[in-house]
Amino acid sequence: MPYLEIARVLRHDCVGPGLHEMECLAPRIAAAAAPGQFAHVNVHPVQGVSEGTPEERALAANSAQPLLRRPLSIFDVAGRRGDADGARITFLYKVRGAGTALLADVRPGDCLNIMGPLGSGFSLPAPVPGGHGDHAPAHAGATCDRAPHALLIGGGVGIAPLVYLARALAAAGCRVTVFYGANTASEMQAVSRRLLTASAEGRIEVFTTTLDGSSGRTGIVTDLLTAEQSASALERIDFVYTCGPEPMMASVERFATARGIPGEVSLETALACGVGACLGCARRLKANGEAGPVYARVCKDGPVFSMGQVELGPVVDREEESK
Ligand SMILES: Cc1cc2nc3c(=O)[nH]c(=O)nc-3n(C[C@H](O)[C@H](O)[C@H](O)COP(=O)(O)OP(=O)(O)OC[C@H]3O[C@@H](n4cnc5c(N)ncnc54)[C@H](O)[C@@H]3O)c2cc1C
Ligand code: FES
Repeated sequence: MPYLEIARVLRHDCVGPGLHEMECLAPRIAAAAAPGQFAHVNVHPVQGVSEGTPEERALAANSAQPLLRRPLSIFDVAGRRGDADGARITFLYKVRGAGTALLADVRPGDCLNIMGPLGSGFSLPAPVPGGHGDHAPAHAGATCDRAPHALLIGGGVGIAPLVYLARALAAAGCRVTVFYGANTASEMQAVSRRLLTASAEGRIEVFTTTLDGSSGRTGIVTDLLTAEQSASALERIDFVYTCGPEPMMASVERFATARGIPGEVSLETALACGVGACLGCARRLKANGEAGPVYARVCKDGPVFSMGQVELGPVVDREEESK
C-alpha cells in the first residue's frame, strides 16, 4: 500500500559527476518497500510553500515548476527493524533535467513530499519446502539442491533498484552475481560501497566495466556476458534481473532467452501521475489480445516486467557502437 510522507532529508551527498545519494526518514514507505518498487518525489522542499504570507505561499505554489513528481527507485532501506533513528530510504539519482537539478539543491533538514512505495517489485525468493534450507526465486519454480544463482545486470544509474535486490536475494540464501557498468570509476563509488557491505551479509560477487577503463573491464556491461573473466560467474544461472538503458536490457534479454533462463526487466520511462490514472506511461506489450494490441502501465503494472513481455529498445550493435 502506498503512503504519502513528509520525509526529512537526513543526508544528501554528491557521490560522482552529476550523481547524488539522498537518505530520507520515511518510516512508512521504508517499512513497506520491496526491491524494484519506486517512490514519486515532489522535488520542492515542503517548507518552500508552507512558510510566509498566504500571498507568498500562493506565489511559491504557482511558480513551483516542475509540477509533476519525479520517480526514483528505492536504492536501499535501513532501520526497518526497530532502529532508534527510524526507518530510512535512500535514493541514488543522476541529474538529467529541471526536476533532478532542483532536487540536487535540497539540503539535509529539508522535508520532501514523497509518495510510495509504488509499482510492482521484482520477484523475490520464496522459501522452498524441503529445499535444503535454500530459497528459490518464485519464478524459477522447481526446487534446487543448491543455492539458486541470480544474475543482476545494471547499466549506469539503472543499478539503483538492483542493489536493494542483491541484498534481499543474498539474505534469502541465493548466490548473487552482479554485473555493473558505468562511464567512470568515480560514478561507481556509492554503489560499490553498498555492494561491499552487502557482500559481508551474503554471497555477492561483483564484476564491473567502465567506458574509460578506470575500473574493471573496459567497455559496456553486456561485454561481461561473453568475457572470459566472468565466464565462471555465468554458470548455472537460475534467474536474470536487469535495469538500465533499454538497448542494454534488450541484449540481456536476448542472452537469457537464448539459454532458456527466466528473468525480469525494470523500465525507467518518464511518468506523470505514477499511480495508474493518466495512462501517460502506457507501453505496448509484445503479445496482442483478441481485440488488438495490449498496453501496460509502467507505473502500476510495472516498472518490473517479465522478460519478453515488453518491446524494448533496439539491441546495440557493438561494431556500429564503436564507430
Ligand atoms: C520507475 C522509475 C524509477 C527510476 N529510478 C531512477 C533512479 O533510481 N535514479 C535515477 O537517476 N533516475 C531514475 N529514474 C529516471 C528519473 O525519473 C528521470 O531521470 C527523472 O524523472 C528526470 O527528471 P528531470 O526533471 O530531471 O528531467 P526532465 O527535464 O524531465 O528530462 C531531462 C531529459 O531526460 C529525459 N528523461 C526524462 N525522464 C526520463 C526517464 N524516465 N528515462 C529516461 N530519460 C528520461 C528527457 O527526455 C530529457 O531528455 C526512474 C524512472 C522510473 C520510471
Ligand atoms: S504515469 Fe499515469 S498511468 Fe502511469
